[in-house]
Amino acid sequence: MSLDDLEKRFPQFPEPYWRASTTFKDFPKCTSDEKTDVCIVGAGITGITCGYLLQNDGFKVTIIDAGKILNGTTGHTTAKITAQHNLFYDELIGNFGEEKAKLYYQANADALNFIKDLVLRENIDCDLRKQDAYVYTNSDDYVEKLKNEMKAYEKLGINGELVDNTPLPFSVKAAVVMKDQAQFHPLKYLSYLVDDFVSKGGKIYENTTAIDIEDDNETYVLTREKHKIYCSNIVVASHFPFKDTLGFYFARLHAYRSYVLAVKTEKDIPDGMYINAEEPARSIRFADYKGTRLALIGGENHQTGQGICTMKHYEALEQFAKDTFGVNEILYRWSAQDLTSLDRMPYIGKITEKHDRVFVATGYRKWGMTTSTFAAHLINDIITGRENPYVELFSPSRFNVDPSLKTLITTNADVAKHLISGKLEFVIKTPEELENGEGSVVRVNGKRAGAYKDDNGELHIVDTTCTHLGCETEWNSGESTWDCPCHGSRYSIDGDVIEGPTKKPLKKITLD
Ligand code: FES
Repeated sequence: MSLDDLEKRFPQFPEPYWRASTTFKDFPKCTSDEKTDVCIVGAGITGITCGYLLQNDGFKVTIIDAGKILNGTTGHTTAKITAQHNLFYDELIGNFGEEKAKLYYQANADALNFIKDLVLRENIDCDLRKQDAYVYTNSDDYVEKLKNEMKAYEKLGINGELVDNTPLPFSVKAAVVMKDQAQFHPLKYLSYLVDDFVSKGGKIYENTTAIDIEDDNETYVLTREKHKIYCSNIVVASHFPFKDTLGFYFARLHAYRSYVLAVKTEKDIPDGMYINAEEPARSIRFADYKGTRLALIGGENHQTGQGICTMKHYEALEQFAKDTFGVNEILYRWSAQDLTSLDRMPYIGKITEKHDRVFVATGYRKWGMTTSTFAAHLINDIITGRENPYVELFSPSRFNVDPSLKTLITTNADVAKHLISGKLEFVIKTPEELENGEGSVVRVNGKRAGAYKDDNGELHIVDTTCTHLGCETEWNSGESTWDCPCHGSRYSIDGDVIEGPTKKPLKKITLD
């Protein structure tokens, strides 16, 4: 397939529909030392919801973000508000027991109810709609798993059903339905929270990168420009916790990318939110769009930095959309990065046992709408001294030998592989051989480097060694970024940090 043909079929640049249809005002950069009650690092749905709750509980709150607010995973979600996290409850009962599996469900159901109640009470215009959520399969291998999931729903008292057809225009072998879940436009919802937060005195700083945390005699967040934000409590809601030595989260999380197309379709898109159980992943929901419906087709998950050429993922989703609904036009394309903990349960609470004033919320897998909302409540309850039934379940200091240990070994072996293999690989391509608009690993002065030739023929060359812990980054052709397969750091064509855990840019290389 030629590049020209791809450009005709897909929007040239990735942009999520949510961001394209919402505007936020700009917030300033932090330019001096500050004093506040709570400093929140990261202005995604977790940070904004947490700030909103704390502010309404009487705390002075400052939120800082390394880039623009709501431009990370929150802006790139499929925005299903559901306690159905693919097939999970049967696994949860097996790994954690029935009582904890019930708590997990309840935490998500509480979050869904919070969002619904707030939207209704404040009349927030955010396309909130009640929807049933479906996990379906077309693989004989998964029918039994769906039956087991349904048994888990029955044990836990979840309102659901096992069915053999759905409103989708293709047949399925089986599907598990969770009733009365919801979907919305996440950024329209969050713009209400942002406005409320700011109108009550909350401060937001953009383009303000946190590089360190101090929590001994004094508690403060240190910014890249060396300003200190003094506070009583710190909430790290930056997706990947940015301070490596606090809790070693980089060894306890792995990063996955997935892709979404927003498509004008030939056939009508039915009600309901759908995901299949098997690989390759396929997710379907509609979004309200100018009085009609767009299909949001998602999937193609892979570990960050380890996928095939990124456009191939979009093409696979395009083919699925064509086969399912017919495609009139692809209006938006985007990808998201999600983090998964070792035992697939999020880490929410004190960042380590020793740090009573520093909190973290991360590892939501792909289910950030409800998880972020109960994470914000949980952290708010700890800071305000209220009881919260979910503290122990999500504590980052929990220890579950199985399946964590097994995953820890595989994950670290995988990281070790990338630390070594990238450095040994023999690259023959040189920067001069690149076409305009092409990026690739190249050879510069006998060493591995990363080069991108822009539309004007100008080369942007970087050292591909990740500044986090030294793995080799790979070119992501769909997003035009350098992605690290080890812990998910991502860099622009000039090596600037787009996503952590790293805080330092890639080294730039100039040709002699
Ligand atoms: Fe950890 Fe790159 S993100 S080594």
